[in-house]
Amino acid sequence: MAAHLLLFVLFFDFSHSHTFLNPNRTPHWKNDDPNQGPFFGQPEQVHLSYGGSPNKIIVTWLTFDDTLDSIVEYGETEQLLSNVKGNCSLFIDGGELKTRRYIHRAVIEDIKPGTKYYYHVGSECGWSSVFTFKGLEPRPDGGYRFAVYGDMGNINARSLGKLQRLAQKRDFDMVLHVGDFAYDMDTKNGKFGDEFMRQIEPIAAYVPYMTVVGNHEEAYNFSHYANRFSMPDSEHSFFYSFDIGPAHIVGFSSEFYFYTKYGWEQIANQWNWLLKDLKKAEKNRKNVPWIITMAHKPMYCSDFYGDDCKLYESVMRRGLPLTHAYGLENLFFKYGVDLEIWAHEHSYERMFPLFNRTVYNGTDSPYVNPPAPVHVVTGSAGCQEEVVPFEKHPPPWSAFRSSLYGFSRMQVFNATHLYFEQVAAAGDDVIDSFWVVKNRHGRPTQNDKKKLETFGSRIPFNYCHHESHNCHPNGL
Ligand SMILES: [Fe+2]
Repeated sequence: MAAHLLLFVLFFDFSHSHTFLNPNRTPHWKNDDPNQGPFFGQPEQVHLSYGGSPNKIIVTWLTFDDTLDSIVEYGETEQLLSNVKGNCSLFIDGGELKTRRYIHRAVIEDIKPGTKYYYHVGSECGWSSVFTFKGLEPRPDGGYRFAVYGDMGNINARSLGKLQRLAQKRDFDMVLHVGDFAYDMDTKNGKFGDEFMRQIEPIAAYVPYMTVVGNHEEAYNFSHYANRFSMPDSEHSFFYSFDIGPAHIVGFSSEFYFYTKYGWEQIANQWNWLLKDLKKAEKNRKNVPWIITMAHKPMYCSDFYGDDCKLYESVMRRGLPLTHAYGLENLFFKYGVDLEIWAHEHSYERMFPLFNRTVYNGTDSPYVNPPAPVHVVTGSAGCQEEVVPFEKHPPPWSAFRSSLYGFSRMQVFNATHLYFEQVAAAGDDVIDSFWVVKNRHGRPTQNDKKKLETFGSRIPFNYCHHESHNCHPNGL
């Protein structure tokens, strides 16, 4: 018995588990008096996430008191003839007031592709407005379209209006928010998190809002992130993956590498999961050829500050200091990851395809059958922290960069063509666009390695891209 208990303690990660409430509970306000109800039973912060297949969607919302029931009423007409019951977990904020939030989650599992659905959420104690979503189906011109960005705060959320408008017009099918929300969700006993979730509702109640965690969610062991979002097949939402059309999208936490005060085992847990997931995706690559990763902190950048992406021994790229354990660049190269999406730097930067500081920049068409992954940093949605300035002279891996606030749009058309663009928040300008064309997906071949060597430039350890820069002794 004792041995069992010990194993349970060793392998069960308590820190990120939700506190599910018993569906047969009696809420604190319930007694024999039928006039008595909860203080705050009004649902708010309604948002959707993709359930892992086109017929499945997860609906999440919040109340400030226990409403007992968590119900979604939905249907193809405004009569909302179907309903599904969900569960409820209690999230107690780590701040001084220990604010209690009741997080409700329900899964709709019978969605027909291309069909428009009406829905509202709540219980006898209060219902939300009616929202709509459309069952995911490929676009007439092919595949699915995503809005992609990181680093959006409450204050100066520069891209927010445009994203809300475009989401409601179904300009994109899904959002990928690559970490850093609200600035910060825990601020003022979590009121900033509530405000953020309210301000994305006009996006996220209409299209699935997929997320990864950033450093701004660090407080109380990232509990605001873990409790407020609901990613598929993952109770904690830190690492997960899903297939959509020709793309396998993998979300994971860069922050596990930097906040080891919450434990080292989370790096290993995630690493083991990544390995398993990439192996599984590799077996299914004929059906789902693109592998796209997303996490908050990048491996490469050319911003002014001395972040991890500026270092030769970048933790994200090379793994833990000295041992190089859990280094992600080798892993993603090995499995032939096509595109790596990052944020954190408050800017937009497209890299040439590259691996191990060898930059594939010696051809006219670097993104046609690139022999190494393509990296993009898109962390410029807008916040009060202002944009991060670039170094004056870009290092060789930097193909395009901009400090204008905005967001990216990506369309994975089919097995061979992926389109990516950056839209400025001010005006309607597309400031950068590129196609990645791949006739083959999979592990890099000998020919790929030769191509990279022949047409790539190797950036040495002590490379200093301009003498006017006060180059870092450990590299750039
Ligand atoms: Fe960040």
